[in-house]
Amino acid sequence: MPIENQLLKWYLINKRDLPWRKNKDPYSVWISEIILQQTRVSQGVQYYENFMERFPNIEKLSTSKESHVLKAWQGLGYYNRAINLHKTSKEIINNLDGEFPSTYTDLIKLKGIGDYTASAISSICFDEFNPVVDGNVMRFLTRYNGIKEPIDSKKTQNKVKEIGKRLIDKTNCPGDFNQAMMEFGALICTPFPDCDSCILSSKCTAYKKNIVEKLPFKLKKKKVKERFFNYIVLVDPKNKTLIEKRIKKDIWFKLNQFPLVETNFKVDNIRKVHSFNKFIDSQKILIKTNTLTKYNIKHVLSHQVLNISFNVFKTKKDIPLGIDLSRLSNYNFPVPINNFINEKLF
Ligand code: ADE
Repeated sequence: MPIENQLLKWYLINKRDLPWRKNKDPYSVWISEIILQQTRVSQGVQYYENFMERFPNIEKLSTSKESHVLKAWQGLGYYNRAINLHKTSKEIINNLDGEFPSTYTDLIKLKGIGDYTASAISSICFDEFNPVVDGNVMRFLTRYNGIKEPIDSKKTQNKVKEIGKRLIDKTNCPGDFNQAMMEFGALICTPFPDCDSCILSSKCTAYKKNIVEKLPFKLKKKKVKERFFNYIVLVDPKNKTLIEKRIKKDIWFKLNQFPLVETNFKVDNIRKVHSFNKFIDSQKILIKTNTLTKYNIKHVLSHQVLNISFNVFKTKKDIPLGIDLSRLSNYNFPVPINNFINEKLF
């Protein structure tokens, strides 16, 4: 049996029962695909269900506040993806008569929809023959075809996509075929696979050459940047504090935080840091002596390790524009700050 038929047959028997597979509604598929770019299926299902409960259709999403969309995204990271979901829902409702685009060409014009998402939606919902190549498919196809070239080069990516295109063109259900490849990569052709029980091993080049665990090959190692975030948590006599919004194009864009002093090194005593003193002077805040309590945590993101310290100070006078500590839960914070707030460590 040709490999595309074997994959399809395997998929129809073994596919996971996932909420976005219940119908071919492009809104559901779009939301699920964007969530799955951020997390594994096991965690993604919960996010998907919460998101659909709050924003059951595109009209509802388009008329919601951005801060509410960000709240539903909390913990997934890459908050720009949530901001783009929201912007694109408005674009579809306001400028496209509420009609979800049905072709790859029209889908890829939308903010936040790239080649992968346009291929996924157009194949799953509208039966277009566009192959998807996510990390799981890349692993499976490079092994099956014994491709040793680095997968971080555009040339290899195009080569793998070409292979996907040739396979999908031989089927008559492109959406199922794409999902079959993704599912096969996720469940069978895993980073450490059990090849002896794989239905395709007898035809798999990497298996025959005994190089399965060497593929896919990557040229560049992921560079991890270490950062040092020193948060200034001020608590005034009326239990009010100061927060700010992150407005630079950086992680946690548009989320809130306590006033931040970022340094290039680990800080033992924040009082010795010039920008901290400058901030305190600019706010005209007097800090009570010996009131510093400090909590350190490490927070690991995909390309960054954040060394976060929360430096809690009591102030002598009320903070102008301070917000009640008990009202912090009304604001969107990144996960590590939210955890700090929930543990009421101030
Ligand atoms: N990963 C991302 N999207 C997927 C899908 N539709 N099916 C299986 N795995 C996926």
